[in-house]
Amino acid sequence: MKTFKIILGDITTIAADAIVNAANTTLLGGGGVDGAIHRAAGPELLEACRTLNGCATGEAKITLGYRLPAKYVIHTPGPIWQGGNHHEARLLQNSYLNSLALAESRACRVVALPSISTGVYHFPLDQAAPIAVRIIHSFLETSEHVQEVLMVCFDEKTKQAYEKAELAFRS
Ligand code: APR
Repeated sequence: MKTFKIILGDITTIAADAIVNAANTTLLGGGGVDGAIHRAAGPELLEACRTLNGCATGEAKITLGYRLPAKYVIHTPGPIWQGGNHHEARLLQNSYLNSLALAESRACRVVALPSISTGVYHFPLDQAAPIAVRIIHSFLETSEHVQEVLMVCFDEKTKQAYEKAELAFRS
């Protein structure tokens, strides 16, 4: 039975097979969840990221998790919100899809996601959540390895937005 769960928490503490990092295109760290993941993973993560030569928006690249409880970190730069007419929705979909596909290719069973682009990148939460929920459910319909996806929300407001999107998806 495949499951999608929406939880409140800090993704750096989640012992999933892979956690996804809302990175930037340099992959050299930053603030928000990116900063938290690099702090928790230790310096080896940055060393590994240096060898990746960055990552285009909507694409995803994978490293080990080093000192994190998660085995892998999947880095994806989500789109920066520019008003909604610069393919932001498509790029956000791509970030989720490419991250989940990479987890599947590494035979991960449990994958934890943050709310990509809804922090520093200002993607409106009420528009991002339905996109993420739809992509995650359609991915789980056909995934063979990935059995559980966790949306790890850092605050109550984010959690409520995803719960609302999940209810709407199911209705
Ligand atoms: N665990 C889970 N979620 C977290 C954590 C954490 N430890 N820390 C922050 N978040 C949440 C934020 O509250 C927000 O809901 O992650 C979501 C994404 O916010 P950001 O981390 O700001 O990411 P994003 O909006 O995609 O902007 C990416 O910010 O940190 C820089 O280097 C990063 O330039 C990139 C940009």
